[in-house]
Amino acid sequence: MTKKKILYEGKAKTIFEGPDSNTIIQYFKDDATANNAEKHSIINGKGVLNNAISDYLMQKITDIGIPTHYIKKLNMREQLVRKVEIIPVEFVVRNIAAGSIVKRLGLKEGQLFFRPLVEHYYKKDELGDPLINEDHIINFEWASRDELDEMQEYGLRINDFLRGLFLGIGLKLVDFKIEFGRYFSEDGNSILLLADEISPDNCRLWDIKTNNKMDKDLFRQDLGGLKEAYQEVANRLGILPEKKTYSSSKTEIVK
Ligand code: TMP
Repeated sequence: MTKKKILYEGKAKTIFEGPDSNTIIQYFKDDATANNAEKHSIINGKGVLNNAISDYLMQKITDIGIPTHYIKKLNMREQLVRKVEIIPVEFVVRNIAAGSIVKRLGLKEGQLFFRPLVEHYYKKDELGDPLINEDHIINFEWASRDELDEMQEYGLRINDFLRGLFLGIGLKLVDFKIEFGRYFSEDGNSILLLADEISPDNCRLWDIKTNNKMDKDLFRQDLGGLKEAYQEVANRLGILPEKKTYSSSKTEIVK
């Protein structure tokens, strides 16, 4: 682990200062939290898997022309990324009903939305990240109208792309959460970059045949098998160095 100065200690990541003032290092921890950190566990190896998965997905998203903070993976747990001013809004894109929307609107889990649904949450742990609307974002100047339109468009493009990518490896992308930040160039202008991470910690992924959950709901709902599921996602993406296959519940190593 790097000896650099800690800039921010998050629930699942620590942010260190980078080699220059425009960069930071994201260190992926093994901590798993739910219900705004009321529930907490250490899952050995989760950080390594999320670093690998997020590294892969961020690169792919960069490749389709969406600007991201991604620069490079440094080692098993660390990524070098551009330093941004985080916009305090979480964008959740939903394709299938699950999680908070099921409770809030009395929906049936698994209900397919006829088109992707975008929700906004105010990024404020003390308030439990409340649901907000576009008017809150504009009124409180968390983002401008143009920035909001751009983030909305990026969110839907990322959804289209990731849905196809996961479908190709037998997974349904139920929903996901993304964050954006402003990157300031030397002339003082800012551009929006996709920031944070994209991993099974902030996506819901269901196996296409069995509907088995392959994401953090395994922890949130005490179902167990989180590490095996994340390994399975990484394995299907083809990013694990070892050749392994996993059944839904137990690990089987193929030599
Ligand atoms: P939700 O159903 O709990 O609102 O979550 C929707 C998606 O957003 C789900 O994939 C989990 C992700 N998410 C986060 O990554 N961080 C959060 O703080 C919340 C509330 C959701």
